[in-house]
Amino acid sequence: MDLTTLAGRIRDARRLTILTGAGVSAASGVPTFRGQDGLWRQYRAEDLATPQAFGRNPRLVWEWYAWRREKIAGCRPNAAHHVIAAWSQHAGCRVVTQNVDDLHIRAATRELVRIHGSIWELSCWDGCAQGATPWRDERVPLGDLPPSCPHCGGLARPAVVWFGESLHPRHLHAAMDATECDVFLTVGTSAIVYPAAGLVHEARRHGAFTAEINLEETPASGSVDVAIHGGAEAILPRIAELLNREPSTPNRT
Ligand code: OAD
Repeated sequence: MDLTTLAGRIRDARRLTILTGAGVSAASGVPTFRGQDGLWRQYRAEDLATPQAFGRNPRLVWEWYAWRREKIAGCRPNAAHHVIAAWSQHAGCRVVTQNVDDLHIRAATRELVRIHGSIWELSCWDGCAQGATPWRDERVPLGDLPPSCPHCGGLARPAVVWFGESLHPRHLHAAMDATECDVFLTVGTSAIVYPAAGLVHEARRHGAFTAEINLEETPASGSVDVAIHGGAEAILPRIAELLNREPSTPNRT
């Protein structure tokens, strides 16, 4: 029933926004952050993904990122990424992701905002002017750790947003802008890391119909219009199928 309701809302929506988190990539084999598979050695993401942790021990933090890069390099987009990519071809559909794995890009998603950056990009930790603009480095393995900045020879860092750091203003603006929509769908995120976790509430304030797809309850489940429990890789194709069965075409042109 919830699936039919959501499919109907998506069909009628002129503006659809989808927020994704690590759960969307779980079926591809990418470890989530807060599941058991997210633990690396004895560390939690919050112990490693901070400027303080990097300042204390850049090699340790880079070893974690090198481990994640190696895992992700062998992963391919799954059915959830493909459905989202297909929807993104419609005008009015925007995708905001917290994922740094770039699997949405590999699935050819349009209008994508990567608010936490990309694990395949590096920037200069020492703050040199040229190294402030992230550069792409897809080598696996990366070579000697920690890697260095090609511009100044200083220390390079993953060009991702860490705890305690601000989102790039352009990304934050685009994400906030995307909350002005008719349907806001949050998929595979634990909904505890802000500001991303606040977007669904912002969308609700703008009058959007809000929905969540997740394997389990999250802090957002109680405040969305529809909370669907299940794997994104199974649920999204079912919704796509319902949309394909509809006699009328989506309003989004
Ligand atoms: P989390 O690891 O916190 O949460 C993943 C969520 O996905 C959980 O709520 C799971 O129940 C759900 N999940 C797992 N498998 C799923 C599946 N197959 N289908 C649907 N849901 C599934 O990941 P995020 O919410 O993305 O930030 O984490 C947010 C941010 O915290 C990350 O971007 C990262 C992390 O620290 C930074 O690195 C700055």
